[in-house]
Amino acid sequence: MQTVTLNTPSMQGVITVGQGSVNARLPKLLQGQKNFALVDENVLENHADLLTAYFSGEELFVLPSGEKNKSFSKLGKILNAMSERGLHRSSRLFAIGGGVVGDIGGLAAALYMRGISCVQIPTTLLAQVDSSVGGKTAVNMRGMKNIVGAFYQPCEVLVDPLFLRTLPEREMKCGLGEIVKYAALNEKIFHTLYGKAAREMIDPDFLNTLVLPCIQHKARVVAADERENGERKSLNVGHTTGHAVELSSKLSHGESVLYGMLMETKLAIAEGVCEKTYGEKLLSIVENALAVQPLQPFDYSRIGALAGKAKSDKKNGDDGNIVLSLPVTLGKWTAYSMPFAEYKHALTQAVKNLL
Ligand SMILES: NC(=O)c1ccc[n+]([C@@H]2O[C@H](COP(=O)([O-])OP(=O)(O)OC[C@H]3O[C@@H](n4cnc5c(N)ncnc54)[C@H](O)[C@@H]3O)[C@@H](O)[C@H]2O)c1
Repeated sequence: MQTVTLNTPSMQGVITVGQGSVNARLPKLLQGQKNFALVDENVLENHADLLTAYFSGEELFVLPSGEKNKSFSKLGKILNAMSERGLHRSSRLFAIGGGVVGDIGGLAAALYMRGISCVQIPTTLLAQVDSSVGGKTAVNMRGMKNIVGAFYQPCEVLVDPLFLRTLPEREMKCGLGEIVKYAALNEKIFHTLYGKAAREMIDPDFLNTLVLPCIQHKARVVAADERENGERKSLNVGHTTGHAVELSSKLSHGESVLYGMLMETKLAIAEGVCEKTYGEKLLSIVENALAVQPLQPFDYSRIGALAGKAKSDKKNGDDGNIVLSLPVTLGKWTAYSMPFAEYKHALTQAVKNLL
């Protein structure tokens, strides 16, 4: 087990990573206050023995699985249940699940009585390498991703590989999507992934070795820029177009990020923002990750409509420009803003040979 500390202006948080972290930390974290555990239905089903050993039926609130539940109405139901169960300011919320439970649970903790203690227990690879760290919480609204939310840091994050044993391969691929994002920002992660074939990339033991480096990278970035005024924007590589893909397809967040990385890296090379030789290497990593168990071929012919979805991205400025975080060269990125018409044109050109 290893610990990573994440000191931000709002919280000194501790992330415990490794086999046994739940059993090592949870008993202590449960003591001394009322507890409320928001848990993903599939996680409860697969890990009932572990969770019912720590939480009573009264403490557990089960969230049905799926992105559609990261909604305002579900948030209201969770807050209602917290109030019905008599939670106080000193109470603690445990968010046990993937990014959906982590995002909505973190927001419920931020809102209830203006903020109660929150512990994140991420159970998907995506949540372990990314969403449980850094305190971004949100729900979706009116077809827009993460449009209502708050920065709210968990006091602890317990990252235990035991959960990944029950995670379907397709969900491992979603986590790989965010890991590939780190490859665009971190030299070591880039070199670990470069040259790996799809089947090597999806190997659970291999992926497990990347969890700690990704968390360390994110913790360093968030400590430097909690509120995303500068360096934290780097973590959005592939995400503006990725969110547009997610909103216009049935693909998951992680897979959509991979398509976003593919299109934005091609766009960055074409715009002269990204060094060509490096960009092509990065693209080979993205393409190998995309080759893992594809759900359905992506329909690039609908790229115009897809581009339109990027307009609603909250990273954009009030001037109507589309704002992208683009790869430049090994370990380097840049913020890049372009008028919508240019973005749409550049994206159409970028995917021309993929049609
Ligand atoms: N807050 C952030 O910084 C941040 C960063 C990246 C992504 N996100 C958000 O994260 C969400 C995606 O997260 P996700 O990919 O974890 O999706 P998810 O939470 O929907 O989980 C994916 C699926 O895996 C199942 N599952 C979870 N853990 C399991 C386990 N151990 N065994 C078996 N099944 C399990 C769930 O029931 C669900 O069906 C998106 O809403 C995205 O916007 C947030």
